[in-house]
Amino acid sequence: MDKMRISGGIPLKGKVRTQGAKNAALPVMASCLLLKGRKMTLDNVPHLQDVETMMELLRSLGVAVTRSGSGIVLDVPETVSWEASDALVRKMRASSLVLGPLLARCGQVVLPLPGGCSIGSRPIDLHLKGLTQMGAKIEIRNGRVYAQVERLRGRRIYLDFPSVGATENLMMAAVFAAGETIIENAAREPEIENLAAVLKSMGVQVDMEGTGCVRVKGVEDVHNCAERVIPDRIEAGTYILAGIMTSGEITVEDVIPEHIDALLAKLEEAGASFSVNRSASRNAVVVHPVKKLKPISLKTMPYPGFPTDLQPQMTAALTTSSGVSLVEESVFQARFLYAAELGRMGANIDIKGDTAVIKGVDSLDGASVKATDLRAGVALILAGLAAKGETRVENMEHVLRGYESIDTKLRALGADVAFETGER
Ligand code: UD1
Repeated sequence: MDKMRISGGIPLKGKVRTQGAKNAALPVMASCLLLKGRKMTLDNVPHLQDVETMMELLRSLGVAVTRSGSGIVLDVPETVSWEASDALVRKMRASSLVLGPLLARCGQVVLPLPGGCSIGSRPIDLHLKGLTQMGAKIEIRNGRVYAQVERLRGRRIYLDFPSVGATENLMMAAVFAAGETIIENAAREPEIENLAAVLKSMGVQVDMEGTGCVRVKGVEDVHNCAERVIPDRIEAGTYILAGIMTSGEITVEDVIPEHIDALLAKLEEAGASFSVNRSASRNAVVVHPVKKLKPISLKTMPYPGFPTDLQPQMTAALTTSSGVSLVEESVFQARFLYAAELGRMGANIDIKGDTAVIKGVDSLDGASVKATDLRAGVALILAGLAAKGETRVENMEHVLRGYESIDTKLRALGADVAFETGER
């Protein structure tokens, strides 16, 4: 399943249901390490490679993990291991999310420095600085983090950047800290709220003031907990863009519209046609066909700004707009590696520092292209769906880290796509 073949030019039609959010499931699963002889029950957990990697990591630490459909139960013993395996952590950057809960619970952790997408330097200095401020002694030797503490102390921590991972790690570390931890300039992503809901369900008092300040009151013990993973706003946004790029007519179900406000606002500005259907059981975004998008300018920002994880897909959509668009990336460096691949399909993109200058072309042509990371890979798939002729996207393993059953979902919308293995 290393390549996806796409015969482009078919307007997508029909309904697609959003998966549970990868970026919510991973920290929530890591937070189970706070439990002792207790269980966490989660619903709407997506079937993804990154979720498998987190399950494997938790199992390697002693947690019993069982899955039934979209539900998982994490049964955590009285004692767990505090040394994370090199291979698993290098495979996925989000493995670093075990640092906070393990340190809080075991008083020591050995964590190899994490790997992950090749989208620029992604240090964990903010995680380590916050934990040090809470009293942990941290050393980095031979590519590993060694952290130790008798008991963490709650205190006020100001994050130099609203890092999603650092906010999550510090929230989890704060659960058994003495006193209250106040994280200022904290990330405000919806996935953080999902983690807060899980910590509350464990019996922890967590206050989110909605203005980038999170307060966690340390406790002595936590109890069994249950929660549902929120819908994946990035996957939802990706399918909305697939509908728009193919001049299709699709309904993306199980969406929290507020979570994709920035995308919807920019799409409206670009002249896309869509409606938001709210219902008590399941909200949906319905995409209506338009011939061409108008050019726009946008800048990626921490939430509620335009998400960096939708930047490659939006850039792909703008390659055939009716003028010159500017897309500035302010969250990650090196997140335009895919622009050269889109160029092979006829896109006209000039990278100037942190900004992509996209000159709209009439149409894209199918080509063989390589996914350089997860979102870049899916942007190439979107381009392939819109292009004339056949596209092959190689290195699909990146895409499978974050998109559940992408081939089945696209075929259900009428796309002509299939996985291929081996030589062409
Ligand atoms: C999370 C998401 C990822 C998304 C990103 C930004 C998960 C599993 N992944 O990643 O999909 O693209 O948020 O929305 O939720 N930084 C530092 N020092 C640190 C931490 C971060 O310099 O200690 C920098 C990073 O290099 C990057 C920026 O801060 O430039 C944002 O990183 P962060 O918000 O931490 O992203 P992740 O949690 O890694």
